Amino acid sequence: MMSFPARRMRRLRRTPALRRLVAETRLSVDDLVAPLFVREGIDEPVPVTSLPGVMQHTRESLVKEARRLADLGVPALVLFGVPARKDATGSEAWNPDGIVQVALRDLRDETGDQLALVADLCVDEYTDHGHCGVLTPAGEVDNDATVELYARVALAQAQAGADVVAPSGMMDGQVAAIRAALDADGHEETAILAYAAKYASALYGPFREAVDVTIVGGGDRKGYQQDSRNGREALAEVALDVVEGADIVMVKPAVAYLDVIAAVRAVVDVPVAAYNVSGEYAMVKAAAERGWIDGEAVALEHLTAIKRAGADFVLTYFAAEVAETLGG
Ligand code: PBG
Repeated sequence: MMSFPARRMRRLRRTPALRRLVAETRLSVDDLVAPLFVREGIDEPVPVTSLPGVMQHTRESLVKEARRLADLGVPALVLFGVPARKDATGSEAWNPDGIVQVALRDLRDETGDQLALVADLCVDEYTDHGHCGVLTPAGEVDNDATVELYARVALAQAQAGADVVAPSGMMDGQVAAIRAALDADGHEETAILAYAAKYASALYGPFREAVDVTIVGGGDRKGYQQDSRNGREALAEVALDVVEGADIVMVKPAVAYLDVIAAVRAVVDVPVAAYNVSGEYAMVKAAAERGWIDGEAVALEHLTAIKRAGADFVLTYFAAEVAETLGG
């Protein structure tokens, strides 16, 4: 008889029960954060064409969706606002009666502490030029002037009841400025989830439809978001954000940046989040619609891979459907 090596790798793959027993990575409902969009001045929810199943919500439909997520056991949502009025500085972002602020109060009334309320903190949805900050006369995003605006947005969101604010603009010093502003106003308990390693990615396309953002003059965000060719730079970004006071750091996008997630996980002790972004969702949905892939299986595989790489939780447009599949 031929002799084989003593360790037969297939022994523990034989039955579903054995495979479950030895699985290293377990995806659960607790790992999911649902991104939600609320739009000012609409009477009915508006479907986002490039994100099947995702809506621009009215205040009422937003609250219903949050209730559904809470009932499914999803622990958190991240909220984005689409204002009726945009201007050069994005001032609706810090208006106490701006759309995200009123929606945060609605959500707190409906769901209490059942859902962690994360508010995306940026101004691109609120500026008429679509950039994540104020522009200099030359048309560049002014870092320090923008950071001052972010501090105002953080206060408005914290006062409206956000548990977590999530600065996504990639301005230098944004986390320190936000932490200082929150503490000075008595919001020591408001946490900061920093979009720490956020890449200038073509995978954000569908999101821009969801928030009605067009960058002026066909521009892009390469002057402030990271270059996809760089990995070490992500560690520098993350280290700065941790020193500045980030409670959680995030890598974004996720599936195309698993190496970055793993590298970040290895060097920090704060929780690591990953954003499974709009383009990643849209690709799966589009291919599944054509019958080319099994969309649900690919979604589970992607989310599991993001966790295997080291993420503690994942922001994903699949949150509700995966929560249904996994059970509460
Ligand atoms: C910026 C922001 C973006 C996303 C989240 N926050 C867009 C951008 O940086 O251009 C993208 C999320 C996604 O694609 O799902 N406020």
